[in-house]
Amino acid sequence: MVANIGVGLIGTGFMGKCHTLAWKAVGTVFPDMPAITLAHLAEVDADLARRRADEFGFARSTADWRTVVADPQVDVVSIAAPNEFHPEMVIAALEAGKHVWCEKPMAPAFADAERMARAARASGKVAVLGYNYIQSPAMRHISRLLADGAIGTIAQLRIEMDEDFMADPEAMFFWKHEARSGYGALDDFAVHPLSIVSVLFGRVARVVCDMAMPYPDRPVHGGGRRAVETHDIASALMQLESGIPATLQVSRSAWGRKGRIAIQIFGSKGTILFDQERFNEVQLYLTADPAGEQGFRTILSAPRHEPYGHFIPAPGHGLGFNDLKTIECHELIMRLSGADARIIDFDAGLEIERTVHAMARSHAERRWIDVAHPAA
Ligand SMILES: NC(=O)c1ccc[n+]([C@@H]2O[C@H](COP(=O)([O-])OP(=O)(O)OC[C@H]3O[C@@H](n4cnc5c(N)ncnc54)[C@H](O)[C@@H]3O)[C@@H](O)[C@H]2O)c1
Repeated sequence: MVANIGVGLIGTGFMGKCHTLAWKAVGTVFPDMPAITLAHLAEVDADLARRRADEFGFARSTADWRTVVADPQVDVVSIAAPNEFHPEMVIAALEAGKHVWCEKPMAPAFADAERMARAARASGKVAVLGYNYIQSPAMRHISRLLADGAIGTIAQLRIEMDEDFMADPEAMFFWKHEARSGYGALDDFAVHPLSIVSVLFGRVARVVCDMAMPYPDRPVHGGGRRAVETHDIASALMQLESGIPATLQVSRSAWGRKGRIAIQIFGSKGTILFDQERFNEVQLYLTADPAGEQGFRTILSAPRHEPYGHFIPAPGHGLGFNDLKTIECHELIMRLSGADARIIDFDAGLEIERTVHAMARSHAERRWIDVAHPAA
């Protein structure tokens, strides 16, 4: 196990705070963790950076992220800036000999994601992505149920991710509406369900996809409106390499949905249901139950579902979103120590990016597209 980790942080919004909370909590939640030093953070201007450093507990702050990357006290750089900056920041950090924990997606352009994966391989450093939803105790339990064959041969997978933060047509234009952030719902949302598909079932072989832009323009600060450049909705049929047929639906404009990632896995001997909005629960239906008692049972997360017990000794009390980041941080540290880790590294992340770019191409060309994964 490494003895000390100096942390650098770039971007202190939603995810930057989540990374910070995770770095602070990991040594309390999990045993035998290295000492963590919050060394240096970067924001867009010096005042904001200083304020956030005080609030978050970082020793130093800067308005120039390159200073964080160059800091000899920094071992791992948490990158929580908007998507368009990921390639430049990640590659600079890896070239400076730092490990990287970068938020998803890797990059708006596939060629940049490829460059990032190449830089990670060349550096020999640990480079992982912020795919927190694979980390919940419930999701790990689903992995185990599938590995044990609890629901038999898988007949079909359906997976959906919906939120409503863009459901209001009058919601303000911001960076996620700019084409330079990516396609929209595909690389903002679809990558999350695809991370789950990747750990539960493996790679996607072919896709057919349609995207939609429900609200073509939005108000901008200072008055007027600006044309939206990204798609809030995407729907896809997928065939997995294992032969499983699957559907994917994602929307950022689904009123009432707050953090839904709904999964239905239908097998020859039963069904597994999961919804991220109730992520301390797994629903299981087994044909092995007596005929008169068949129905979905609710399995509440409990200490027997790793790593729940590291947080709370009592079953059914529930973890929260930030706990997923703490688990992800723990997995990153395990990977740093050379141990097996449940993590999406840059090579696995590149295959997720390859799939969403195939989906975007399918939308443009109105046809099925084979996802050109390299040989396994
Ligand atoms: N894993 C998840 O569940 C999840 C959830 C939300 C967002 N994300 C990802 O996290 C990343 C950040 O999203 P967010 O929602 O935290 O955005 P945000 O807008 O809340 O925060 C981004 C921060 O980065 C700062 N920033 C921008 N350019 C910078 C620069 N050049 N140097 C330093 N700081 C800079 C901004 O000032 C802002 O504070 C995105 O890639 C997004 O896709 C992941």
